[in-house]
Amino acid sequence: MELTLDTLQETLKAWNGCALANGANPVLGEGNPHAEVMFIGEAPGKREDEMQRPFVGQAGKLLDELLASIGFARKDVYISNVVKYRPPENRDPTDEEKAQCMPWLMLEIALIKPKVIVPLGRHALGHFFSKLSITNAHGTAQKLTDSITVFPIYHPAAALHNGGLRGDLFQDFANLKAFLDSQTA
Ligand code: URA
Repeated sequence: MELTLDTLQETLKAWNGCALANGANPVLGEGNPHAEVMFIGEAPGKREDEMQRPFVGQAGKLLDELLASIGFARKDVYISNVVKYRPPENRDPTDEEKAQCMPWLMLEIALIKPKVIVPLGRHALGHFFSKLSITNAHGTAQKLTDSITVFPIYHPAAALHNGGLRGDLFQDFANLKAFLDSQTA
């Protein structure tokens, strides 16, 4: 079977390698299969579990606004999560759950081949740079490989809990746009 986003989706549905899979629906990433920019959140929430789509709840609405603020729509980018199932009561995913779900994210990255990966929040950032803190690194470009830059940004849900972060988020997206423009100039 050829590995595509569609076959990945089908394979994930039949997977049972994470304890969270027993009580929740699988949520793979979605978006432009040729996207240059890939956003990675933490884990699906209630709405995402119901719809089996990433970032379709309140945090997703803010993510849509942030994308629009730099002239992007969801169809321009690819959006996924570290963990593919909703943790009970939206608790933080454990290290074990993150590790169990990691192959799916790696396969998505291998298929999309993004130039810029945007971890949203500390769980996704920790996958790429375990020693960087989101507080210090947000809104700055971090070279991962010759062809991939990681550009961490606060998780949109953080601004839903702490309104003071909303301005930082919009500023980080403006920085991201400036970085992307500088790469094509
Ligand atoms: N928060 C996330 O990290 N991911 C989602 O898909 C929704 C909310």
